Amino acid sequence: MMSPPRHIAVIMDGNGRWAAERGLARHEGHQRGADAVRRIVRAARELALPTLTLYAFSAQNWARPRAEVVQLMRLLRRFALDERSELMARGIRVVTIGDARRLPRFVRAPLLALEAATATNEKMTLCLALSYGGREAIASAARGLATDVAAGRLRPAEVTEAQLELRLDTRGLPPLDLMIRTSGEQRLSNFLLWEAAYAELYFTPVLWPDFGRATLEAALADYAQRQRRFGMTGEQVVARRARG
Ligand code: FPP
Repeated sequence: MMSPPRHIAVIMDGNGRWAAERGLARHEGHQRGADAVRRIVRAARELALPTLTLYAFSAQNWARPRAEVVQLMRLLRRFALDERSELMARGIRVVTIGDARRLPRFVRAPLLALEAATATNEKMTLCLALSYGGREAIASAARGLATDVAAGRLRPAEVTEAQLELRLDTRGLPPLDLMIRTSGEQRLSNFLLWEAAYAELYFTPVLWPDFGRATLEAALADYAQRQRRFGMTGEQVVARRARG
């Protein structure tokens, strides 16, 4: 049996469709999506998962109608303000990835405060991807490498995968083991492109506002029966495991 995933990422999709199915406005879907975020964080902690990364707002989401962007920002602010005591009580550290500079101050300030307040919590890491794009993250890391090469701090031959990874904002998080996407869509949508190289992918038709502990446990059960080979043969993997 495979050891449990150390790092799970979730593409929380389907808020709009959840609302449309009920004849509700999109913002109702996002509101219920925020409730699902609270549920999954609690479930992840109870299941002793060390790291959970949530795609809360993509670099491309800025192109949505302004009213929807503002509503999502308000939900993020509310989360940062209202969840603090529960996150503290559960020993959960919050970090963010993405271009936080693009977030309005009314979101950035409470998020920074939440990150600072929870910085030494050790039971679990909740990573919120905000104004995040995988290509943007890789380009940013490449700029860092180019700057170091131009300054003579690094030789071109030293530009390795490890050196690039050191400049990604996910450095410090465990390798990504499992990527979940809800709502039946089967694509990565610019999420954790580098990190997903060997991640297991799990797609569920469940719409994000309906996601709960049971859906998470179904994903974990599916993950547990997979064999990760990392380019090796199945026989090699079995032999390695036998050797411990
Ligand atoms: C996708 O649904 C979801 C988003 C673009 C935003 C995710 C945000 C939340 C779940 C709420 C706020 C988050 C936190 C951390 C409090 P969609 O609108 O693309 O759905 P659709 O594809 O059905 O239209």
